[in-house]
Amino acid sequence: MLYILDTADLNSIKHCNEFYPLDGVTTNPSIIAKEKTDFWKLVKEIRNIIGEEKMLHVQTTQTVAEKIVEEAKLLKKELGENTFVKIPICEEGLKATTMLKKMGIGVTVTAIFTPAQALIAAKAGASFVAPYVNRLDNFLGDGTEVVSEIVGQLEIYNLDCKVLAASFKTAEQVHKCSSVGCHSVTVTEELLEMVISHPMTDVAIAGFERDWKSVYQDKTILDF
Ligand code: E4P
Repeated sequence: MLYILDTADLNSIKHCNEFYPLDGVTTNPSIIAKEKTDFWKLVKEIRNIIGEEKMLHVQTTQTVAEKIVEEAKLLKKELGENTFVKIPICEEGLKATTMLKKMGIGVTVTAIFTPAQALIAAKAGASFVAPYVNRLDNFLGDGTEVVSEIVGQLEIYNLDCKVLAASFKTAEQVHKCSSVGCHSVTVTEELLEMVISHPMTDVAIAGFERDWKSVYQDKTILDF
């Protein structure tokens, strides 16, 4: 499972990159716009925080294939090897994906809501396809089921493409996706906190502290 952080908030990226086993950061135009700052300054700072090894997914703002490719080349030049260009599923996007695949630039085809969209994006050469789990659940769909079908189809057709499930609002959605073999998830800091939390864990930790202190007071192992 790859854990990716879905934000352009630098403080959140710094924090999560330090404490969680993060594989990278995803952004989209809405996420970037939220920060109300200079685009290049922001994405270069994100790259700086996560380092060269981790993935950075940045979405194109172009709508015509040749222009998407131009923007993708610039993003890769400025942000380095592990940069993936996010492209929403559409005809121009598929054309651009095929062109970028030939150039060795990784593409994440995004705004996926059906397994059929994901399959054709993978066939065009996407490295990742990003289904929106919570938005599917919100519209009486089943986000996990869609993720599960995509995982299955990529396997059946032996396509070199991973599912990067997105748009999560609950820890249960994340868990259900991992249970069906989803390769990666992109989540917020809040979701990461929910994933590692449980009231009984808090009770267990409080018990360890109480029992230890009842015998050793404030001594730690380092004090013996
Ligand atoms: C994925 O590419 C999107 O950035 C994101 O996960 C969508 O999440 P939302 O539905 O909370 O906007």
